[in-house]
Order: sequence, then C-alpha cells, then structure tokens
Amino acid sequence: MHLMQYRPDLVHKGTRVAFLCSLLVIFTLLLAACGGGGEEPQPTEAPPAATEAPAATDTPAATEAPAATETPAAGEEITETAEMTETEAVSPTEEVTATEEMTSTEEMTGTEGMTGTEEMTSTEEVTSTEGVTEAAAGAGDAANGEYIATLTGGCGCHFNRDLGALAGGNKFEGPYGVVYAPNITPDPETGIGNWSEEDVAHVLHTGVTPDGTQLVRAMPYVAFSAMSNQEALDVAAYLFSLEPVANQVEARAVTTEPEPFTPDPAPPAEAPTDPVARGQELVTIARCGGCHTPTNEDGTPNMDLYLAGAPLQEDEISANITPSEEFGIGSWSEEEIAHYLQTGERPDGSLAQGSMAQQIERRFHLLTDTDAAAVAAYLKSIPAIEHDPYAD
Ligand code: HEC
Repeated sequence: MHLMQYRPDLVHKGTRVAFLCSLLVIFTLLLAACGGGGEEPQPTEAPPAATEAPAATDTPAATEAPAATETPAAGEEITETAEMTETEAVSPTEEVTATEEMTSTEEMTGTEGMTGTEEMTSTEEVTSTEGVTEAAAGAGDAANGEYIATLTGGCGCHFNRDLGALAGGNKFEGPYGVVYAPNITPDPETGIGNWSEEDVAHVLHTGVTPDGTQLVRAMPYVAFSAMSNQEALDVAAYLFSLEPVANQVEARAVTTEPEPFTPDPAPPAEAPTDPVARGQELVTIARCGGCHTPTNEDGTPNMDLYLAGAPLQEDEISANITPSEEFGIGSWSEEEIAHYLQTGERPDGSLAQGSMAQQIERRFHLLTDTDAAAVAAYLKSIPAIEHDPYAD
C-alpha cells in the first residue's frame, strides 16, 4: 500500500501498520457518518447514494455507521490518521463538494425569526433567556451531543477534508457575501478551545459568537434554536471531546451585516418528553423540511406546503410526508413510519431511494426507538396537505 512509501519508518512495524489501518477504517467511517448528513437542502450527492440505497436497511454501511460513537477513540490517533489520510486517499465522500452548494436555501429559511435587535448585542442576556442557569462547566453529555450532532447532519459543513477534522475552511458564497466554515475543534488558537459550553449553545441558538459576531444563516441556527438548551450543551461537550486541530480559517467578507435573530419560542431547557413535541423538535433540527418543503422564489420555505414534498436536484422529488391519504403517508401507521426512518423499508417492503436512503444511512438510522416514534407521532399530527409533488 502507499503507506509504505509515505512512512517508511512504519514499514518494519507491520502490526503497528495493521493497527493504524484499522483505526483508519474506523476513522473513515466516522468521517463519513459525521461529515455527510448536513447537506439536505442541496442533495447533489443523491445520485451516488441511489445505488447504495438498499444499504439503508441492514448492509454493512448502515450498521457500521454507529462507528460514529467511537469518535474519542479514533480521535486519539488523529495525528497519525491525518497523515495516513493523504496516502490512503480517505475519501470522506461528497460533503465538501456539497457544502459549496449549500448556499441559498438554508439561510433563507430563517427569515421568520428576524425580530428584536438590541437585546441581541449581549450574549449573556440571551443566554439567560434560554434557561442556562445551572449550566456549570461540564454540564453537557458528550455522548448525547454526538447523537444530536449526527442527527442534525454531523456539522459536515465544518469538515475539512485535508485535515480530516471539523477544522473548517470550506467556503460559502451567497447573497450575504463570502464566509468560511469556522474551525470547531477545541484548538485554543484557531478553533473553539477557549469557548464555554454556554458559548457553543448560544451560537447554536442565536448565531452569535462570543465576540458578538452575528453569523449568516448558512449556519442553520434558526433550525437549531428548536434544540433544547441541555442538548445544545451536549453538542458542545461533544465538540470539546474532539481532538484539537489547528487551522486558521480566513475571515469572512459579508456584503451586509446579518440580521440579528431571536429564538421564538425560546429554546426549552430540556428536550420535550411529549412525543409530538419531541418529534417536532427532531424534525426541525434534522431539517426534514429542507428537502420535503418546497421553496418560494426567494428561497424561503413555502409553509403552505410544509412537508408536502418538493422537487430536489437531479430530477429527484421528495415525498409528501404529511398525513394525506392520497399523496402522503396517511395510510402508514406510526410504527411503519418509525421503521422506515430507522431502516429505509416502506410498509410494502420496498426500500428508500436516493437522498432519503443516504440520509437514513448517514444519520436517521441512529434514531432511538423513542425518537423515531416521536418523529412518526409528529408527522401524523400535522395537517394533511393534498399536494402531489410529482405533478408539479
Ligand atoms: C436530503 C433530502 C431529504 C431529507 C433531509 C429528508 N428526506 Fe425524507 N425523503 C427524501 C426523498 C428524496 C424521498 C423519496 C425517497 C424515495 O423515493 O424512495 C423521501 C422519502 C421520505 C419518506 C417516505 C415517503 C414515501 O411515501 O415513501 C418519509 C416518511 C420521509 N422521507 C421522512 C423524512 C423525515 C422525517 C425526515 C427528517 C427527519 C426526512 N425525510 C429528511 C428526501 C429527504
């Protein structure tokens, strides 16, 4: 293998090489699982996944994806795996290509939240409205944070392919100008190593960084503001559990300062336990609407057709997932919906295709039984919209 040319010193150490290779495999899976899920508004990568679609049920790809839970272990070897990345051409799939396309839709979705301004200048004030009272250092649960982060898309926009880490640098261009995904590894100089968990929760909920910068909506904080405060702290703990990777990311060049954003309603302190409310939270932060809700001409979601199916790229069409008997999933039981989300298998035994199969494989199959049931309960609770996305 190329590794031998690249690291001759490792050649004599066959067992070490084998060990590192296995770590590499784990790490690669991790990257695929972590990096991939976030691009749902622009599923340009859907066609490749279409061929892999049956994987969504129980093929190795799907079952191995929980390797994401091995992050800390893989992270310990990150220096060496990063070196090996170059030689082994670890290809953590399409996330970087995809991120370049993630411009218009997502950040436009947030216009509904543009409200007050003055109170946004102080990070502390807003944090306190989120109920972060008892949030001492270390309040977050990294394992749950990894689960939530993966469900929302694994922070894939921040994934730096060359460095094999969430070290940022990917460029985004839109009406707002040019921005670069920041380094969100805990490197103190170039990443978020000097942030508190509350700082991370605050940026997830408001898009305001500790130095007061309002981020553009390419960062989906409008959707993430539906995340409970505890879960945002959990995501922070997860990010802080990653290996710090130094990478100085270029400063942004925005054409106009982004509008401030006040979460409304304010994020709850804890995740709701009521299934419908929990399902709504999950559908919001996982951004199902990014694919299942059509957009208006200005890129904002057409809420009259919320989750009623939409044309995607590459001639793909997402399904109507409202409870319409004729056009949607009104005939599916909650159990069948939950089963589909975890496995990709429809009630008739056919399998999810395309970008949905990819999303299931990368993230939704990880939904716990309770959470999958909650998403199903929520989808059954929303109004049926008699809309045929294939007729558009
Ligand atoms: C990347 C785009 C994308 C995202 C994100 C996405 N979906 Fe889908 N979804 C699709 C596409 C495309 C289909 C059609 C798949 C097919 O034809 O097999 C689909 C199909 C489905 C179906 C099956 C409908 C049917 O009639 O077969 C359900 C249920 C569903 N999605 C629910 C969800 C939920 C819930 C979420 C969020 C947790 C979600 N989807 C997120 C693209 C997406």
